[in-house]
Amino acid sequence: MSKEKLIQGLNDDLAAELGTVIRYTYQAAKCYGLQAAELRKLLREEAEDELGHATYLMDVIQDLGGEPTTTPKSFDKPSDIKGMLELNIKMEAEDVVNYLAHAKLAEELDLPELKMKLEEMAADEDGHGRALRRLLKGL
Ligand SMILES: [Fe+2]
Ligand SMILES: [Fe+2]
Repeated sequence: MSKEKLIQGLNDDLAAELGTVIRYTYQAAKCYGLQAAELRKLLREEAEDELGHATYLMDVIQDLGGEPTTTPKSFDKPSDIKGMLELNIKMEAEDVVNYLAHAKLAEELDLPELKMKLEEMAADEDGHGRALRRLLKGL
């Protein structure tokens, strides 16, 4: 597996993170009322985690000799809370799969810090998904 392939994968992850920062900030602004208050709070907290992930990926892509993307991945805009939760749960799950796949690539390229950090980020996304599923269950 080549370093170029890993850089490409990390840039896809970075685009997803940048998109998620925007998606969660956007969705939080669309949350009105008591029922949405908890989602609004959670989205803002998670947006900060995603910005941390994006910041790490920017640095690591640069350090690997790549050019970090500044273009966020586009996303759907459901108008209701249930649609937002379902979309976010689906996209968090996709992020978990991608991080674990790229952690494997990093291991093959003998990059243990990157491998472990990507696994940690997969765990963060899985935790985000779990928090979102709790809210969906209570709707
Ligand atoms: Fe993230
Ligand atoms: Fe996440």
